[in-house]
Amino acid sequence: MPQIKKETGFPAEQSVYVERAAALALKIYGKTPRAFVATFGCQQNVSDSERIKGILEKSGYVITEKMPDAQLIIFNTCAVREHAEERVYGNIGMTKALKRDNPNIIVAVCGCMAQRQSVADKLRKSYPYVDIVFGTQTQHRLPEFIYRRLSGSGRIFDLTLDNGDICEDVPVRRDGSLKGWLPIMYGCDNFCTYCIVPYVRGRERSRQPERILDEAREMIAAGFKDITLLGQNVNSYGKGEAHGVDFSGLLRRINALDGDFRIRFMTSHPKDCTRELIDTISSCEKVSSHLHLPFQSGSDRILKLMNRHYDRKTYLELIDYAKKRIPDLSLTSDVIVGFPGETYEDFKETLSLVREVEFSSLFTFIYSPREGTPAAAMDDPVPRREKGKWFDELLKTQEEISERNILRHIGRTCRVLCDGFGGAEGFMSGHDSGTAAIEFMGDESMLGKFVSVRVDSYDGVLRGAAEK
Ligand code: SAH
Ligand code: SF4
Ligand code: F3S
Repeated sequence: MPQIKKETGFPAEQSVYVERAAALALKIYGKTPRAFVATFGCQQNVSDSERIKGILEKSGYVITEKMPDAQLIIFNTCAVREHAEERVYGNIGMTKALKRDNPNIIVAVCGCMAQRQSVADKLRKSYPYVDIVFGTQTQHRLPEFIYRRLSGSGRIFDLTLDNGDICEDVPVRRDGSLKGWLPIMYGCDNFCTYCIVPYVRGRERSRQPERILDEAREMIAAGFKDITLLGQNVNSYGKGEAHGVDFSGLLRRINALDGDFRIRFMTSHPKDCTRELIDTISSCEKVSSHLHLPFQSGSDRILKLMNRHYDRKTYLELIDYAKKRIPDLSLTSDVIVGFPGETYEDFKETLSLVREVEFSSLFTFIYSPREGTPAAAMDDPVPRREKGKWFDELLKTQEEISERNILRHIGRTCRVLCDGFGGAEGFMSGHDSGTAAIEFMGDESMLGKFVSVRVDSYDGVLRGAAEK
């Protein structure tokens, strides 16, 4: 059973370190120190980095976008596929020369990849210029880590993963000002057999609804118009908690907040996605008509091996219900090609599901073995080259479907959040409630506002005219 944890505020001892780290950094560098944070991986990591940057600002650092200008360099890493890890090693390697020129620089590696013991061991042995390594549950202790390292302690390796209290009241420095992330839960209990996330993120823990509502209110007051609720499986929000608010209940509460804004969420797991949730999306006017519902494979045999706890039929029934209840629904999904033991026959089931559902877009991945997961120990006879061919076939199939879905927008009036300038003079750009990007005649005064756009053409981009 997952332990039910209480929440705690930003710990008092960290507040002490915040002051001390700020004073010591100023003394050592002789000027206001700068910090550079590079983020790899999913939105959860992007959101974590926003909190890391908030903590750093509080600890006297100014955030810079240029790595060579920084006295503190942090890599917030992802372990979901091998490629993600390789990219991180390449980037860490770049700090070696910087550190040679200026040994006072601090290099830290954190997040999902750093959480793995084998990675921490490799960093310890082969990357001596990395000063601090910490995982996914201790970012609020960053001021302490910085202070200790600045005051001459040895290298710091802290991989604590005790599924302890969710640390609240952490300062946040958000990357955008219109679209923002709002974490509602952390960790994952699903243990899909291919996936490393439950091992590196720990057990599923939900934030208290009041905390989430407070943060949503803050974001709305600060002008955010597009808020994405984050969790590895948002449908199991609140499980095991005394407050009794489930994900649908949470959506309704956020929907009832004052203000003109849009709510998105990810990720939904088909096994926990209920008809009630679909009804909630349909009845809450601020919840966008977009559902990201990863199916991973269209073959029941493979779904079982993946430990996904639903079958093709249930998935398709759910999609069918959602399409009926939510007009102009935009559907997206994740798919894995070449899971161990998958045959071309299994893959054809994936292709046929993709054709049947007609997703707006797909996130497609070739299976990547992750050490320590059950799938990594399964027989995997199909060569990578063959998987690559299947993958290309899937991309080609989806390309045609994506285009058809885009063309369906022509003739519709869409509510577009204007978020930038268009490609041509006099055009503004934005996104509808789903995933479509739309350009329309307009001017700067529309930035950050919802605009009603009648879509009339497509020339590689959907175009339309703003309605008065
Ligand atoms: N919690 C979310 C997202 C998890 S990671 C969910 O359950 O959907 C994002 C996607 O990466 C997954 O949906 C899956 O399609 C893909 N993925 C995870 N592990 C992988 C692996 N070992 N190889 C290839 N793709 C993987
Ligand atoms: Fe990974 Fe499955 Fe959890 Fe998603 S639900 S994070 S795919 S274990
Ligand atoms: Fe990667 Fe961790 Fe997200 S492994 S996909 S950054 S939860």
